[in-house]
Amino acid sequence: MIQTTTDDFDWTLPSKDYRDPALFERERREIFAKNWMLFSWSGRLREPGDYVTGALAGYPVFAMRDDEGRVRAFHNVCRHRGAQLLSEPSGHCGKLLVCPYHSWSYTRVGRLNKAVDFGSDTSFDPEAWGLYALDAEEWRGLVFVRIKRGGPGLVEWLGPIHGMAADYPLEHQHFFMSKDRDCAVDWKTYGENYLECYHCRTMHPGLCAAMDIDNYRIETYQREKFFHLHAPRRAGGLTRGLYFYRFPVLMLNLYDWGSSIATIEPLGPGRIRHMNWYFFTDVSPEKAEENRKSAEWSAQIVSEDLAIITGVQRNLNVGVYERGPLSPKHEGAVKAFQDMVREEFGARGPVRSFAAE
Ligand code: FES
Ligand SMILES: [Fe+2]
Repeated sequence: MIQTTTDDFDWTLPSKDYRDPALFERERREIFAKNWMLFSWSGRLREPGDYVTGALAGYPVFAMRDDEGRVRAFHNVCRHRGAQLLSEPSGHCGKLLVCPYHSWSYTRVGRLNKAVDFGSDTSFDPEAWGLYALDAEEWRGLVFVRIKRGGPGLVEWLGPIHGMAADYPLEHQHFFMSKDRDCAVDWKTYGENYLECYHCRTMHPGLCAAMDIDNYRIETYQREKFFHLHAPRRAGGLTRGLYFYRFPVLMLNLYDWGSSIATIEPLGPGRIRHMNWYFFTDVSPEKAEENRKSAEWSAQIVSEDLAIITGVQRNLNVGVYERGPLSPKHEGAVKAFQDMVREEFGARGPVRSFAAE
């Protein structure tokens, strides 16, 4: 039963909000397709014609560097009969991108070059049959794509993060390794776990050994839709760090010597792909072991989180647990995260559930 009394604490969302297929479709269209999403990093798109394929908000897409050096992004679909144009995870397309089905060709800016052998009397306006373009921008060596075109530029969308991260040397860091994991958890289950450290003492012994958990706090920037996580190192630690969660699913952990960058591709209601990339300033062979240990240390914390929230999601799915109270001391950012979902849906005032009754 949903409680409606005026409590002096906030509540989790009702369990159906973490598993409802209709709500997931709405989130896909109104949240994931409308926001800038982290897609790749610039090091994978060095030369004109280099491309990377993937999925964003469920849409197959690709990004490619054009002849002017600009990154462009397109739906990975041919305008003729809808074939997937590129099937490798990454590669180089040559001067023209040729569809593997009937060989229509497109330029690196997405214009139709030729509908080969189509029929003598038909001339196509290349503008009318170009690829479906998406918004694409680079920031500090990272490539972002937005499915629904228009809206704030990437720097504006990042807001204060852009200035706060200015003296961290992101573009001088090199890719070291990545870790992708498909998990049976909803993206909101994941986000809400990330945004509280109430569980840190019970769940993350390694994190507690390295961080001064008593002084962990999360600052919410409600209007700019991001969280600044303050996780001070224990006394004697030498590294400064900057930790952000930009709604809906961008996670940036920045250090002078490297960074751990993560995002989520929503695969369905209660299903995500968690993608984590590790970059280091020094990726020389002598440093490889140290870098690997550092990446694995951080991946271990994610594994601990995914293990517990997979169990949470299982319980959200079965319909015994309905909703629970949020700690006023530790879970304010969880409530703020829910409010960001509300704002994206254009809801005014409190909404007790996003899923249809
Ligand atoms: S579907 Fe691409 S050329 Fe026919
Ligand atoms: Fe955690």
